[in-house]
Amino acid sequence: MSSIEETLSIIKPDAIERNLEEKIKNFFLKNNLKILKSKKVKITKDEASEFYKVHQTKPFFNDLCEYLSSGPIVVMVLAGDNAVLKNRELMGATDPKKAEEGTLRKMYGISIDKNSVHGSDSVENAKIEIDFFFK
Ligand code: CMP
Repeated sequence: MSSIEETLSIIKPDAIERNLEEKIKNFFLKNNLKILKSKKVKITKDEASEFYKVHQTKPFFNDLCEYLSSGPIVVMVLAGDNAVLKNRELMGATDPKKAEEGTLRKMYGISIDKNSVHGSDSVENAKIEIDFFFK
């Protein structure tokens, strides 16, 4: 079954720094995801902590928030058939070393922290994450 969904995608500082914004956007478009909204922002560490609060008990939480607030990011609303899962498939595994060939993290990720992109993990979280950046 297919259903039109929206999901939040972030191009992280490591990818923006390497001028990968257009390449990553074209990859989504080529794979039938529309980019409904897009903006470049720089967030504070407090904002990153709020965004990633589901991870607040994890040992990597502090580094993660430092990192997401370390430079400009591009936040996008992607839309299409089963967009949440589709985006996760296009990104590949969180750790670029484990990501499949042809996925964004395999192509561009540097490490589990500098893994180039973030995507919502469920339809419910997508709504929350889209509101976080676009409401
Ligand atoms: P992301 O999809 O943005 O969601 C949380 C991020 O935490 C994840 O990508 C990784 O970049 C980062 N992270 C760092 N260490 C880990 C880890 N051990 N497991 C999962 N995510 C991690």
